[in-house]
Amino acid sequence: MMRYVIILFIVFTFLNCKSESKATETNGRGLITKNAMVVSARKEASEIGIAILKKGGNAFDAMMATEMALAVCYPYAGNLGGGGFLVYRMADGTKGALDYREKAPLAATKNMYLDNNGDIVKHLSTVGSMSVGVPGTIAGIFKAQKKFGKLDVETVLNPVIALAKNGYIITEKQEKRIIKYDSIITAVNEKEILYNKNLKAGDRITNLNLANTLERIAKHGTDEFYTGETARKLVAYLQSKGSIITLEDLAKYEAIWRDPITFQYDDLTITSMSPPSSGGICLGQIMKMIEPFDLEDYGHNSLKTIQVMVEAEKRAYADRSYYLGDPDFIDIPVKTLISDIYLRDRMKRFSFDTPTPVDSISHGQIIGYESNETTHYSIVDQFGNSIAVTTTLNGGYGSKLYVDELGFFLNNEMDDFSSKPGEPNYYGLIGAEANSIAPEKRMLSSMTPTIVEKNGNLYMSVGTPGGSTIITSVLQTILNVHEFGLTMQEAVDAPRFHNQWLPDEIRLEPNSFNTKLKKQLEKLGYTINETRTPVIGKVDGILMLEDGTMEGGADHRGDDTAVGF
Ligand code: GLY
Repeated sequence: MMRYVIILFIVFTFLNCKSESKATETNGRGLITKNAMVVSARKEASEIGIAILKKGGNAFDAMMATEMALAVCYPYAGNLGGGGFLVYRMADGTKGALDYREKAPLAATKNMYLDNNGDIVKHLSTVGSMSVGVPGTIAGIFKAQKKFGKLDVETVLNPVIALAKNGYIITEKQEKRIIKYDSIITAVNEKEILYNKNLKAGDRITNLNLANTLERIAKHGTDEFYTGETARKLVAYLQSKGSIITLEDLAKYEAIWRDPITFQYDDLTITSMSPPSSGGICLGQIMKMIEPFDLEDYGHNSLKTIQVMVEAEKRAYADRSYYLGDPDFIDIPVKTLISDIYLRDRMKRFSFDTPTPVDSISHGQIIGYESNETTHYSIVDQFGNSIAVTTTLNGGYGSKLYVDELGFFLNNEMDDFSSKPGEPNYYGLIGAEANSIAPEKRMLSSMTPTIVEKNGNLYMSVGTPGGSTIITSVLQTILNVHEFGLTMQEAVDAPRFHNQWLPDEIRLEPNSFNTKLKKQLEKLGYTINETRTPVIGKVDGILMLEDGTMEGGADHRGDDTAVGF
């Protein structure tokens, strides 16, 4: 019912605005194209991805180009010094996933972030050299491009190298971020680096050291980063800062093909990232727990919809903290966790009358935390292949350590491990033994690059940054389209809420939900927090429309841009 009301409203708006000629701007839709599209956190990166497709490349060539372009013009999260996950669907319907998550160095130990009393040493896992995991990004983009790409690497990377040499324009949002992080970046690096508070919106910035690094990588491939000159420079730099990462760590790094998580929701087949990301399992758990409820009837962001979703989220995040970690180190009961029987049982205490107490779901205490950074891009190519890629340095500018000579930041992904069972990480997520630190283990992630099919055809590619809020942001975007009839652009722009079991609160984007709704939730016993996470996710996605065209959804919360042809 609600879908029809929304559609009627959209049609009415469209009819009223038709004389303004640009239908795509008046019917709530984002960019519409016929053949191909890239949606990413920066216009320059989306444009370079499309330029590679126009040269005859496919989604995997465009992946390499887009990801490296983000490393140049979106150093906040785009990276060479981090890691990520790819979920793909080929034109013939074959699906798969690639894990290029960072991993713990060989010398890592379970208690490396604890002092002699067994207490967590503040900031050791989040800032500086000890927080850095062995990077996976270069291994990942090369593995994907080598298996599926069509162009040679130099052709793919040349426009990125040109971007680093010729520069790009600092946006207002970028200026604000650089100012916010300037003092910590300067303190960690013991000097001002290329990205510093003197940069203003509108300035052009070049990164010649990164251009040189990329030129060597274009010429010598992954070996350059993992065993060559770049590896030697990187390890020398890291060790000068006290890191335990060695040349052996880099040489041993490999990206790994994984079986993605696939599940049904109504007539949708949803494929998302498997462990070491929690994204696919948690998304599957939440969606299957809410499937029996008539969300469409309850309405978008209504009291009942929020109650059902929040209670399902609580249960999934409690399972996440106990069961999930690196599948190469622990056994994860994947089938059970996303089975109907198990999930029906998990929801059996659900009631619209009162919240289920968090300590009856599981145990744990949480203290405060910050927001995060990561970035997502979606690509559909002119051959019908689609990819969803989420990549990260973890926090904004990662560990804040900037390798001047090589032109990039290093991650602080080690904080995604559980440093001490029951203690929260940067995102307030708590973990257990399953996600404890061990040499060469991959830390648990929330990244949720997702491909959705309908009637066996590609329907949507979607994902987002947002740390612990990634899973719930992807969830809401899919539901916004499927249950509530929003366009892709409306779906990514709509206000979001989040619950992660602990802390026991519903986070809302500020000034986005009405007072009556908030009061109703509080009356039922929910705690509302509108200050903890002012921006919940920055979702980018592509939706296939019935007429065979595609619509981009580029989140207005960032500088995100859809480009296509
Ligand atoms: N570093 C954020 C995540 O992987 O979930």
